[in-house]
This record gives sequence, structure tokens and C-alpha cells, in this order.
Amino acid sequence: MKITCIGAGYVGGPTMAMIAGKCPGIDVTVVDINESRIAAWNDTDLSKLPVFEPGLDEIVGEARGRNLHFSTDVDSAIGEADMIFISVNTPTKTYGTGKGQAADLKWVERCARQIAELVERDIIIVEKSTVPIRTAAMIKSVLRAVGKEDKVKVLSNPEFLAEGTAVADLSNPDRVLIGGEDEESIEKLVSVYAQWVPREKILTTNLWSSELSKLTANAFLAQRVSSINSISALCEVTGADVGEVAKAIGTDSRIGPRFLQASVGFGGSCFQKDILNLTYLCDYFGLPEVAAYWKSVIELNDWQKRRFAEKIVHTLFNTVAEKKIGILGFAFKKDTNDTRESAAIYVCRDLLIEKAHLAIYDPRVSLQQIIRDLEYVGITDAQDLVKSGALSKVDSVDQAAADSHALAILTEWDEFKTLDYNAIFETMKKPAWLFDGRNIVDRKKASATGFDVYSIGKGESHGAEWEVR
Ligand code: NAD
Ligand code: UGA
Repeated sequence: MKITCIGAGYVGGPTMAMIAGKCPGIDVTVVDINESRIAAWNDTDLSKLPVFEPGLDEIVGEARGRNLHFSTDVDSAIGEADMIFISVNTPTKTYGTGKGQAADLKWVERCARQIAELVERDIIIVEKSTVPIRTAAMIKSVLRAVGKEDKVKVLSNPEFLAEGTAVADLSNPDRVLIGGEDEESIEKLVSVYAQWVPREKILTTNLWSSELSKLTANAFLAQRVSSINSISALCEVTGADVGEVAKAIGTDSRIGPRFLQASVGFGGSCFQKDILNLTYLCDYFGLPEVAAYWKSVIELNDWQKRRFAEKIVHTLFNTVAEKKIGILGFAFKKDTNDTRESAAIYVCRDLLIEKAHLAIYDPRVSLQQIIRDLEYVGITDAQDLVKSGALSKVDSVDQAAADSHALAILTEWDEFKTLDYNAIFETMKKPAWLFDGRNIVDRKKASATGFDVYSIGKGESHGAEWEVR
């Protein structure tokens, strides 16, 4: 069998590497119009793969050139395939009808049209991208228009991997979901996954349930984070500890312990976009109450990010102008180089608007990426700020801390969990503040060193020297 995947991004790359690794009998080609991305996937230096995921380099290194290929020749790969995965981006629309809410399906439609034009034999199209419900109907219409509806079967197979744990999620998924109308094509896709996933974990549904389940899963996950973050604010004003509350409720098997980690706010390319898409669909189908319910998950998240930046400004005597603040972490979570919708972007934006000087340290994110992200959210002079020294990317926690008034932890990278509080404290201005947006700081230890600490949902704990306050 020959599989082609259109889109070599965070999903297409790892997913296809896993299929190639687990199914040596299947020849897998991943194609993309982005030449530099494909070049990076083909780089002999595996540390230069365009997607950083623990363990991915090993899998790619083993399968690449054997039964895993990366190419920019989209037409040929479509022409040769028995099964084509569409794994292209489906971001929130930035123009026209549905701007800021609906999913932009132009890349998916482009793929459907390209396949419709080129395909001459019986194939299966697999929707891997996250799409609004009834997208498969659009793909079928495109095929019908050129008389190829009978040749090509369409399946929905949403991806549930999380970044940073993609390899583990793909090799041992909670479930694989396949939606379709044609038993034979469903079975063909089932037989691919069944090479490493137990059959009872492979769920089959109708097309529309599968498409909607993906949006619903992300909405439920994001809702848990917003729910615990809402409680974090209540904890801070009442003396409760959000970690203890999360543990207490999470031990109820009906609630469960995961996704109850209070934070500076969820980020990532999908939670916000998929909930916005869900609310758009609800509005479109005349369900404004349902739309409003899910929208509040995003509103709470926006508030949580804003609240964190305001807390810093307020605490530093209502002004951060020209004060150096060390930012620890810019990625939207640990173990990824992805910054899409990262809470750090918004916190940094708000602090730069207040004229803070930021020194950002993230082990995986480049200065170019930070500038692009900040420009996108309105810091149009980000380049100038770099030139003037008001914005910098530094290479270590120590450099971020030196001469700073405060450190703000925005990503839970493991190295931030074992900070040398004494050494850092010595180099900072006093009072030295530690704002922990991920609740990974050892508050007792940091306070004993002299730090004033703010943690989400735990409030403030003051260092030895300023206990009198
Ligand atoms: P991405 O932006 O990293 O990758 C998409 C790739 O598709 C890009 O490299 C782009 O150049 C390519 N592309 C677009 N149109 C093309 C075309 N016509 N021909 C060839 N290549 C084309 O996106 P991603 O993070 O991999 O997400 C892809 C889809 O998977 C989205 O719908 C997303 O919602 C969904 N998803 C993402 C994740 C995740 O963790 N990132 C998880 C589950 C689902
Ligand atoms: C999420 C889902 O978990 C995946 O199942 C899904 O496939 C994917 O979206 C997608 O569709 O793109 P991802 O965004 O990669 O995966 O990462 P998560 O682990 O879900 O984290 C999302 C955000 O929520 C991060 O910013 C994380 O720090 C935050 N988070 C997560 C919390 O603040 N608290 C938690 O308890 C959990």
C-alpha cells in the first residue's frame, strides 16, 4: 500500500513517521508546498527536524529513506497513492465572513481539488486535519463535480496527539477514531492502525460524529483548564490552594485527575481555534446559547493571561517601565518548539505595552519566532525594541535573571523546576519577585532564599527579608 500525506507539519510529520515505523510494508510519502520545511525533514542532522518532539528523531532516522519519504512533488505523490491523508492547516479565518471565528478551509479545499484533478484510480481520502462538521460533504462535492465520486471514498480520522508527547500518544493512543460510510474503506484504514493499536481501541462511527467528536474533545479539555483557572482566582482571594483543590476533586473518579493544572492560560494552535469554530457552527445552526457557553471558556482564558500580566505590573509598584523582567519560557507548553497562541505571547505583549524590558529564555524558541509572534499581536516595533535592548532573547536562566526585578515562569520546562534560587536571587534587584505561571516553584525554598513569590491559585508568599509587609 502507498500512503501520501499532504501537509508535513506538527501532525503530518509525526503521524506519518509513526505509520511508517510501525508498518514496514506501507510506503509513506509526506508532501508539502513549503520547501524549507521539507528540506528540514530531509536534513541528515536529525536535530534539525522542523518539529521538536521527544523521540521523533529516532523514528524518523530509522524509517526515512526506507519507507518514509518527504517531498515537495505533491502531484506525483497524489498520483501514486492508494490512500491520501489531508493534514494541512485549518486556522481561524482572518478575513471575510466568519472572520475571527470560522475555520479557514481554503487549504483543505485546495487539496480536494488537486486530488480530484489528478486521481485516476480508486483511492481513499482521509481527513486528518481538524475540520468543521460536514467538511467531508464539501470534499465529496468537489469529487462529484468531476465525476470521481465513486472512485474516491472519504473518511474522517481526526488526530488526538498532544504536542510534546506526540510519540507516546501515537504509539499508545487512548483511541483511534475513524468515521465513514463505506465499510470496505473503513476496514482498510482500520487495518493500518491495527498493526500496532489494539482493535478495541479503534472506534468507528459515521462521518459527522467523527468530525464533531474532534472539536468536542478539544472543547472539553480546554473547558477543564478554564474551569480550574477560574477556581485559581477564587483561591487567591480566599486562602485556598488550587493544587490541593485540584487533587481533592481529581480523586473523584467521575472527575479524574488530568487537565486540572492551573496555569497562566492554555495556548497551542488548536484549543482556541477549535472552540471558536464550534461557536461559529452553533451560531450558524441557530444555537446562540450553546455558542455563548463555549465562548466563555475562551473569555476566561483571555482573562487569566491578562490577569497574570496585571499582577506583575501591580506588584512591581504599579510600574514596570524600564524595569528588566526575565521571562522563562515562550513555548505554549514544555517539550515543544511551537509557540502558536502561547500565553507567553500575550503576557509579554502586555508587559511591553507597559514599557518593561524583557529578557526571554526558552530552550527551543528562536528570537525570530518571538519577534514574529509579538508583531502579530500588535508590537509592531518589536525589531526596534531588540535593537534598543528593550527586548532580548538570552541563553540561560542566569542571563534572564541578572539585574532583573522579577522572573516570570510562563512554560513548565523541566529545567525551571530545579532553579538554583540562591544563585539567581543574588544577581537580581531587590525586592526580587518570582511570578510562577505554572506552579512549579518550590515556594518554601524560594521564599526562604528571600524571593517574594506569586503562584497561580496560591497567592503570594513573602521572602524572609520582607516578611513584615
Ligand atoms: P501545520 O501548520 O504545522 O502544518 C500544515 C502544513 O500543511 C504546512 O506545512 C503547510 O505548508 C502545508 N500545506 C497547506 N496547504 C498545502 C497544500 N495545498 N499542499 C501541500 N501542503 C500544504 O499544522 P499542524 O499543526 O500539523 O495541524 C494540521 C491539522 O491538524 C490542523 O487542522 C490542526 O487543527 C490539526 N491538529 C493539530 C494538532 C497539533 O498538535 N498541532 C493535533 C491534532 C490535530
Ligand atoms: C491538545 C489536545 O490535548 C490534543 O488531544 C489535541 O489533539 C490537540 O490539542 C490538537 O487538536 O491540536 P496540545 O494543544 O498539543 O493538545 O497540548 P495540551 O497538552 O492539550 O495543552 C494545551 C494547553 O493547555 C497548553 O498551553 C498547556 O500548558 C495547557 N494546560 C493543559 C494547562 O494549562 N493545564 C492543564 O492541566 C493541561
